[in-house]
Amino acid sequence: MRVLVTGHQGYLGTVMVPVLQAAGHRVTGLDIGYFADCLLGEFAGDPEGLDVDLREVTVEHLRGFDAVIHLAALSNDPLGALAPEITYDINHHASVRLARLAKEAGVSRFLYASTCSVYGAAGAELVTEDAPLRPITPYAESKVRVEDDVAALADDGFVPVFLRNATAFGFSPRLRADIVLNNLVGYAVLTGEVKVLSDGTPWRPLVHAQDIATAFATCLTAPAADVSCRAFNIGTEVNNLTVAEIAASVVEAVPGSRLLITGENGADPRSYRVDFSSAREVLGFEAQWTVPAGAAELFTEYTARGLTSDAFFRRFTRLPHLEGLRENGVLDARLRRISASASA
Ligand SMILES: NC(=O)c1ccc[n+]([C@@H]2O[C@H](COP(=O)([O-])OP(=O)(O)OC[C@H]3O[C@@H](n4cnc5c(N)ncnc54)[C@H](O)[C@@H]3O)[C@@H](O)[C@H]2O)c1
Repeated sequence: MRVLVTGHQGYLGTVMVPVLQAAGHRVTGLDIGYFADCLLGEFAGDPEGLDVDLREVTVEHLRGFDAVIHLAALSNDPLGALAPEITYDINHHASVRLARLAKEAGVSRFLYASTCSVYGAAGAELVTEDAPLRPITPYAESKVRVEDDVAALADDGFVPVFLRNATAFGFSPRLRADIVLNNLVGYAVLTGEVKVLSDGTPWRPLVHAQDIATAFATCLTAPAADVSCRAFNIGTEVNNLTVAEIAASVVEAVPGSRLLITGENGADPRSYRVDFSSAREVLGFEAQWTVPAGAAELFTEYTARGLTSDAFFRRFTRLPHLEGLRENGVLDARLRRISASASA
C-alpha cells in the first residue's frame, strides 16, 4: 500500500516507519519537524517526507495514497495544559480536516493514534472500548473529539480506525524522556535515583513503541468489515501496572539505583486499567514487550548512546524543547514555523 504517515519524525513515527516498510508498504511522511533533530545516537534516516504543517495540508498532498496513519499531534498532557487552544487547533480541528481531505482525495483507510487516557479516572476496573469516556485533560479531550467527528465520515469507501494506545515506552532514535518508563530509567542512569513524584498508586497501562507499530501495520490490512469505525485498546494486560511497580522494574534494570517515592505531587487522578481483548480477538494482535524488558533495553541504549542531562531534560522533553523553539524565534506563539527549520 502507499501510506502517508503524519508525525513520522516523532517518537512513535520514527519506530513505525521501518516496521511498515518491512511489511512491504511504500511510506511517505508528513511532519512540521518539531523534533527532527532530537536524536540519540545513530539513525538510519527518514523516508521521503512532506515538510508541512498539519494545519496547512491540502487535498493535493493526499492524492495517491491508499491509507493515512495519523500520528501528528501535540502529544502529551503538559503540552495540552500549556496551551489548550493550540492543542485543539492541531489535535482536533486540523485532524478532522485531514480526515475530510483524505476522504476527498480517495484515501480508503484512516488509522488514528488515539489514547487510553480518553478513559480518564476509571479506577481499578478493567475498561473496555465501550466504557464511558471521561477525559480529564485538553489532550485527552481532543482525542475524544477526533474519534467522534472522524467516525461520522465513515462509509464504504472510507474506513477510519481508532487505536487507543496505552502509554508508550521503549527506545526510539527520536527519544522521549517525558513518558513514565523512559523518564524513570533516564533519571536513574543520570542520578542513581528512581524518583517517583506521585504516591506511586496510579495505574498506568504501558505498551512498547514497537508493539504500537505492529498494531498499526496489522490494522492497515485487516478486513474493513472488522475494523471500520472501531476503537481498539492497544497494549497488554500484563503491562497494567502501578507507578510503584513500574519503578520497581527500573530499580532492577539500573545497577546500583535506589527507589525514592516522594509523593510531592500528591495523588494523580489519571488512573485506569485497560482490557486489551478486542485487539487480540479481532486483529490477532498480541503485544510482545514487558516493562522489565523495556527497562533493560532503555538502560542499554541510554548508556551505549551516551545520554546526557542536558539532552534528557531539554531536547528529549517536549515542553521545554518547544518552548525553546519559540524563544529562539523558530516557532511563533501558535507553534507555526517562522524560520526554515523547526528543529534548529
Ligand atoms: N507516546 C505515547 O505514549 C502515546 C500514547 C498514546 C497515544 N499517542 C499518540 O501517538 C501519536 C504520536 O505520539 P508520539 O509520542 O510519537 O508524539 P511526538 O510528540 O514524539 O511526535 C509528534 C509528531 O507530530 C508532529 N507534529 C505536531 N504538530 C504538527 C503539525 N501542526 N503539523 C505537522 N506535524 C506536527 C511533530 O513534529 C512530531 O514529529 C500522537 O498522536 C500521540 O497523541 C502517543
